Amino acid sequence: MAQTGLYGFFRETMQQIMNRMTGQIEEYGRAYEAAHGEKLYEHLICRIKSEESAREKLCRLGQTADTWHALRSITDTIGIRIVCLFIDDVYENVRQIKSIPGCSVVREKDYIHNAKPNGYRSYHMILEVEADEPDVDGNTPGHYYVEIQLRTIAMDTWAALEHEIKYKKSIENQELIIQELRRCANELAACDVSMQTLKRIIREGE
Ligand code: GTP
Ligand code: MG
Repeated sequence: MAQTGLYGFFRETMQQIMNRMTGQIEEYGRAYEAAHGEKLYEHLICRIKSEESAREKLCRLGQTADTWHALRSITDTIGIRIVCLFIDDVYENVRQIKSIPGCSVVREKDYIHNAKPNGYRSYHMILEVEADEPDVDGNTPGHYYVEIQLRTIAMDTWAALEHEIKYKKSIENQELIIQELRRCANELAACDVSMQTLKRIIREGE
């Protein structure tokens, strides 16, 4: 069946891979909860990058806006975000993700230990996921990129606000706002550390 659009024939497979990956994450989440009596993450969201923003990104990269480049030059066409209560949970999720069969880590960035200069914190993983379906190079099993972002609720709150501000270019006092955002990021990070410590103290007393 012929399919149109930037992702063409592959859109359906991308959707299937995203559903499969989130299913596997939910599965280890349930197993962890059954074993430890607490949730390993608070919630997760996923999305296929809109074709409009994929085209924009290819243009920014100076590449042709075709199906091959969309699936090979962009590594976050399939995106999953896992939001956790505690910092330690982020790293436990990373460990669990690495043990999912058919997944290999292409790149990972720890913006929690190395925050971006603007204060952004998150753990990013680019995975190469094997699928029964063919890929854009004609290989079966196929290989698809999936980006996973892991962060705490505090980091997520900050990123949401910063994202909002970043795209409102008309804002006055940009410098002051950037400086204040960085201060907020640092305060939230300190809170995350305190909350993690409190959790440990409570557990030890049980
Ligand atoms: P792109 O930023 O997507 O072009 O890729 P990159 O190779 O620079 O990857 P990076 O790990 O820096 O960022 C990937 C994604 O993380 C972005 O698309 C955003 O969703 C998120 N992200 C990175 N930096 C920031 C930031 O400063 N603020 C917010 N709100 N999100 C960010
Ligand atoms: Mg970036």
